Amino acid sequence: MEIVIVESPEQAGALVADAISELVTRTPTMVLGLATGSSASPVYRALGSRSASFARARAFLLDEYIGLPPGHPQSYRAVINREVESLLDFGNDAVQGPDVHADDLLAACDAYETAIADAGGIDLQLLGIGTDGHIGFNEPTSSLGSRTRIKTLTDQTRRDNARFFDSLAEVPRHVVTQGIGTILEARHLVMLAFGAAKAEAVAAAVEGPITARVPATALQLHPRATIVIDEEAAIRLQLAQYYRETWSGKPPWQGI
Ligand code: GLP
Repeated sequence: MEIVIVESPEQAGALVADAISELVTRTPTMVLGLATGSSASPVYRALGSRSASFARARAFLLDEYIGLPPGHPQSYRAVINREVESLLDFGNDAVQGPDVHADDLLAACDAYETAIADAGGIDLQLLGIGTDGHIGFNEPTSSLGSRTRIKTLTDQTRRDNARFFDSLAEVPRHVVTQGIGTILEARHLVMLAFGAAKAEAVAAAVEGPITARVPATALQLHPRATIVIDEEAAIRLQLAQYYRETWSGKPPWQGI
């Protein structure tokens, strides 16, 4: 894994936005995996100030709440609409999320897997990390081979995400998320994490043993995983100095 320790979320956003801009310029039909949450926002803001065109690109959301009415401002679909689609020139229907309003939710999960596969798979998947080590909404003990499916959120995740709602009671209990197996099929994973609250989860993900107890440890199985974190999120890493000294200053996807 490549561990990149930066000074601020803005620096991380600029770095990852540069990489995505380069990728979409080189491959205009690229497929981007979108994460929702505050960690990915600096990337979207930075991309909005770049000139790269996404007119021929496609994108897939990582996950979505079940039970919010269509258009609810905290549905991940609405967040991505505000943070990504309003800034970038994606075509109509080029950005897809799981259909959590389908009558047959299980069939909708399978259809989402098929849609990703039919698009040729995801070229670059953005990820955040939950304080409990989740990726997407794959909570602890999710199978490392899991596919898109319905999950129940832990109390910790609901409390963490309550800041986006008026009250804890409003945070949905159920979600649809790409599985860990689905995420691992993306050709490049880029995880972002900022702040001391993420330090323990980041250390477990990067330096801990691979375990379903910490879903983000699955990134250790991926041949191209880049972790972009600030100094606070890096405080529990035993090899932080080694990562600082060995990072080339150039993301590995450039020039490959
Ligand atoms: C949610 C999302 C995750 C995200 C996590 C962290 O649970 N489903 O994809 O990684 O929040 O969010 P934040 O970046 O806001 O800390």
